[in-house]
Amino acid sequence: MSATKPRSCDTDAALAEARRRSRSLEAELRAEPRGQRVVTGDRPTGPLHLGHYFGTLENRVKLQELGVDVFVVVADYQTIIDRTSPETMRDDVAGLVADYLAVGIDPERTTIFAHSEVGALNQLMLPLLSCVTVAELSRNPTVKDELEAAGGRAMSALMFSYPVHQAADILSCRGTVVPVGRDQLPHLELARSIARRFNRRYCPELTLFPEPRALLSEAPMLLGIDGTKMSKSRGNAIAISASAEETARLIGRAKTDLEREITYDPERRPDVANLLLLAALFQRRRPEDIAEDVGSGGAAALKRTVTESVNERLREIRARRAELISDAGYLRAVLASGAERARAVAGETLREARLAMHMNYDD
Ligand code: TRP
Repeated sequence: MSATKPRSCDTDAALAEARRRSRSLEAELRAEPRGQRVVTGDRPTGPLHLGHYFGTLENRVKLQELGVDVFVVVADYQTIIDRTSPETMRDDVAGLVADYLAVGIDPERTTIFAHSEVGALNQLMLPLLSCVTVAELSRNPTVKDELEAAGGRAMSALMFSYPVHQAADILSCRGTVVPVGRDQLPHLELARSIARRFNRRYCPELTLFPEPRALLSEAPMLLGIDGTKMSKSRGNAIAISASAEETARLIGRAKTDLEREITYDPERRPDVANLLLLAALFQRRRPEDIAEDVGSGGAAALKRTVTESVNERLREIRARRAELISDAGYLRAVLASGAERARAVAGETLREARLAMHMNYDD
């Protein structure tokens, strides 16, 4: 087995290379959307926020509209890594599906499924675990971060092996493309190694698992209202599903600085720059132009502009989401039909994998 590669985003050169590959992949997807399968997903840990909207959701809808076959995993097993109480799971899953549909993911074309409902996917994790070493998992940056964040508390073996579970999500669907942020590149590198090793070990004459390629997201990182990365767990996020009033209140509380004149200066004025960026994304304009508009209006005028841009653009999405969330039966039906499709695909993958491992005993 080949030596482990260094983290793919270790150096600027490696990142530039990942970007270059990703751009050519994007061109391929445009030219020939049919041959590819995108696999992506989220952990149901609470409502999706504005960072998700620009970071991933828009892109999923774009891929769907191009005609690419998209599978979206509701990674419910991944939440038991850190969740202490399971009571909100069902609502969180329903809320996530409602978020997806509200932003334009179409369940007729895109397969939305909870991975706990797809037995074959989870069974596939066993042979995949055999394709990775404990040392490799220990070096995974996310696993390392989590270990540090745990601050001495014990880490569960599921947490430790979760990059392999994510590989099972991708490989069971035989995904060829995975949209990722830079921080997820090491996960994808691992999924690629696992695919390669399985193929080499059990079926060198055919490619049972395609090596999934990274579609690198170029979306800018949004900061939350406290000036740190917008994140569900930090309580600093503005949910897509927040009401207009709640949005106004949250943006009203966002950090700014004491300078009256509004200028776009991400280095020196990161908090003001973040608000300008938000307004710019929602208005599809440049942050510099928004700054010019606001000018000497100061932070109050800036916050009004941001609030209006967010609320304006999300009005329809929020109305649709409110309707969806009140139709629990429909949301359940979407998940059920997604699970059925995913079970057919993952079941066939597992069948072929077991055949390759000579674990077929009935003929
Ligand atoms: N780990 C991802 C996250 O926390 C979610 C996820 C689960 C995922 N399975 C996946 C992403 C498969 C891409 C492909 O955001």
